[in-house]
Amino acid sequence: MSEQASASPVQIRLDGEVLVVTIHNPPVNALGQAVRAGLLAAVEQLEQNAQARAMLIVGAGKAFIAGADIREFGKPPQPPSLPETINRMEACSKLVVCAIHGPALGGGLEVAMATHYRLALPGARLGLPEVALGLLPGAGGTQRSPRLMGALPAAELMLSGKHLSAKAALAAGLVDRLVEGDDPLAAGLACVRELLASGAPIRRTSALPVPGDQAQTLAALDQLAQDTAKKTRGLFSPAKIIDCVRVAVQTPFAEGSKREREMFVECLNSPQRAGLVHAFFSERETAKIPEAKAAAPRPFTRLSIIGGGTMGAGITVAALDAGLSVVMIERDAESIARGQKNVEKVYDGLIAKGRMTPEAKAATMARYTPSTSYDAIRDVDMVIEAVFEDIEVKKAVFKELDRVCKSGCVLATNTSYLDIDAIAAVTSRPQDVIGLHFFSPANIMRLLEIVVPAKVAPDVVVTAFELAKCMKKVPVRAGVCDGFIGNRILAVYRDAANAVLEDGASPYEIDAAVRAFGYPMGPFQVSDLAGGDIGWATRKRKAATRDPRARYVEIADRIAERGWYGQKTGRGWYLYPEGARVGQQDPEVLAIVDAERAKKGITPRAFTHEEIMRRYMAAMVNEGAKVLEEGIALRPLDIDVTFLFGYGFPRHRGGPMFWADTVGLPKVLADIEEFAREDALFWQPAALLKKLVAEGKTFASLNQRG
Ligand code: 3HC
Ligand code: NAI
Repeated sequence: MSEQASASPVQIRLDGEVLVVTIHNPPVNALGQAVRAGLLAAVEQLEQNAQARAMLIVGAGKAFIAGADIREFGKPPQPPSLPETINRMEACSKLVVCAIHGPALGGGLEVAMATHYRLALPGARLGLPEVALGLLPGAGGTQRSPRLMGALPAAELMLSGKHLSAKAALAAGLVDRLVEGDDPLAAGLACVRELLASGAPIRRTSALPVPGDQAQTLAALDQLAQDTAKKTRGLFSPAKIIDCVRVAVQTPFAEGSKREREMFVECLNSPQRAGLVHAFFSERETAKIPEAKAAAPRPFTRLSIIGGGTMGAGITVAALDAGLSVVMIERDAESIARGQKNVEKVYDGLIAKGRMTPEAKAATMARYTPSTSYDAIRDVDMVIEAVFEDIEVKKAVFKELDRVCKSGCVLATNTSYLDIDAIAAVTSRPQDVIGLHFFSPANIMRLLEIVVPAKVAPDVVVTAFELAKCMKKVPVRAGVCDGFIGNRILAVYRDAANAVLEDGASPYEIDAAVRAFGYPMGPFQVSDLAGGDIGWATRKRKAATRDPRARYVEIADRIAERGWYGQKTGRGWYLYPEGARVGQQDPEVLAIVDAERAKKGITPRAFTHEEIMRRYMAAMVNEGAKVLEEGIALRPLDIDVTFLFGYGFPRHRGGPMFWADTVGLPKVLADIEEFAREDALFWQPAALLKKLVAEGKTFASLNQRG
């Protein structure tokens, strides 16, 4: 074997009459250039080797093939292309079979669909998730999947990005046979030999017709396109996916693949693809922290949650769902009964929707212990405190924890803003104290800010990241400051929004501008959902320490003083008659806004959506840069992930710091300097931003990976 061949990630060997092709490209057998070249070489060997009558493709390790190599996107293409490789394979004059035992996604499923027979083992997961990266399947996937599954189910699979189990893939027509076990090689070889013995014909998916009545199918696709446009507002690739399926229905394969390639390249070149790929990698990158190199996690199975309110109950559910056991501590009998009810409510909701059985609930609740005595938590491995946001209450709790918890127990606080160093200081073991900032609802929201105080031990930090993994959260490492990464930056862009409100835009215009940018909701809608009383309490708490020179917009206080807290009170910035979830504009709110402007002698001026968003985003990016220069966030991507997973930032824009790079940092800085002419105190450009602009650099240059 030549040196080059031995280094190839595609291993080829003859087993009797079967050429066994094993993709060995860890971690997920992505279809990088060397894999494509190896696959093509395997097909040529099959054609030329008279002894070989068939080829079996399997993946080594956990995956079959997880798709194209995402790292190659945006770089100059390197031959052979994936469509060329796949088409050559399908055209092969000898039998080609694949055995799928793990993920067969994107390009991986496209390879499989072009083989002549497909076998799936129980661990197989099949899907075309390109849409999540701003793409469409670009190696024949939009043309072959309708021929195997039918046009509508294929379009739905591609639009959802969903992974199908082996069983579901069989039912959908994507695979021909299921086999038991976890050895794709043995199962595949047996199947190939059986196919050869029975003289099974070569079947080329590209030669199949798309099943179903053409006119009916096209009408159904039109309807799907309308629904999709509503659901995926602003996204580029979903409509293109449907266009490709329409082409598959109407034209022969060769023409269809040509059109697919053109549309794939359009998607590849779209800024949305760049944003979504950044989001994909960043989401996996935030767990790579300096402490991980130096320490191993402490073991944990038994947790205690202090407080059974909104957050305590949500965190309890997250922990129970992760298979951990939880002792919940509350102040008194009444509060612990309410805490338990808060937990059970979540599971009862699932039972009502048919997503959980009463037996499963009982099994889960068997790991839950309610108590009002700290003695019940003497042997737990980790405590997460979620009591009132009051430093004195929290300090008292931590003194109790210090008294009762075993040595080595991790002591975490879910505080939103408070000084965790000060909380740690009341214990005799600050090395064990850390911040775990969950987001509401804690059993659903994926973000977990892991807040690292000065004295915490590295293995406690690593344990917190391990907890995040076990709860399927996306962890972001943050430093201690008022609000950490997310809430600190939020406070600043909310101030920018309030200034725009007072200067002339209505809350409804601001919300509309923010939605048009891609957020699911605007800031005033979010306030109504979360409860205006929460922000009001925070403002009152901070009033004493507020810089007296800083502009303070009182409009939100005027709304809250009336008891208009939002959805829960039937009105806030919007009206919610009879429990409506979608608010209506409220003329009385507009009158309050007008009165406040008049009080300050402000003549309202008009703002376009673009003008609103320039301020909103400049404030966000500027504070993000300050968070970076202070070391509160490790890298720009940590801020991006915080906003993508905790604050509804549109994923296709990659996150605020990625977005700033796409706009250009000189432009963002120029905006800040322009706004500083109106309010120099608020709009102080971050030193880091100025430095990057002076050096001609981007935030991306600070995102060293892994
Ligand atoms: N290309 C390059 N790297 C990839 C990759 C891909 N397609 N898929 C995963 N990786 C990398 C990850 O970045 C991660 O790297 P790291 O260890 O350095 O951080 C590593 O593989 C392991 O990934 P996960 O942490 O996600 O591992 P899991 O076991 O949790 O999940 C998976 C495995 C389900 C395969 C998941 O990684 C995944 O969903 N991958 C993406 C699949 C995908 O989107 N495929 C379509 C690609 S686009 C395409 O095929 C275009 C074609 O139509 C032309
Ligand atoms: P909550 O008011 O719903 O619940 C607090 C619970 O703590 C109450 O059930 C109360 O009885 C209990 N409690 C108070 N003192 C106690 C003590 N000494 N011992 C045991 N239990 C005690 O409050 P919520 O919203 O759950 O907030 C809790 C913490 O989580 C706060 O620090 C808050 O800042 C933080 N947080 C809140 C978020 C939210 O969206 N609500 C999001 C992220 C963090």
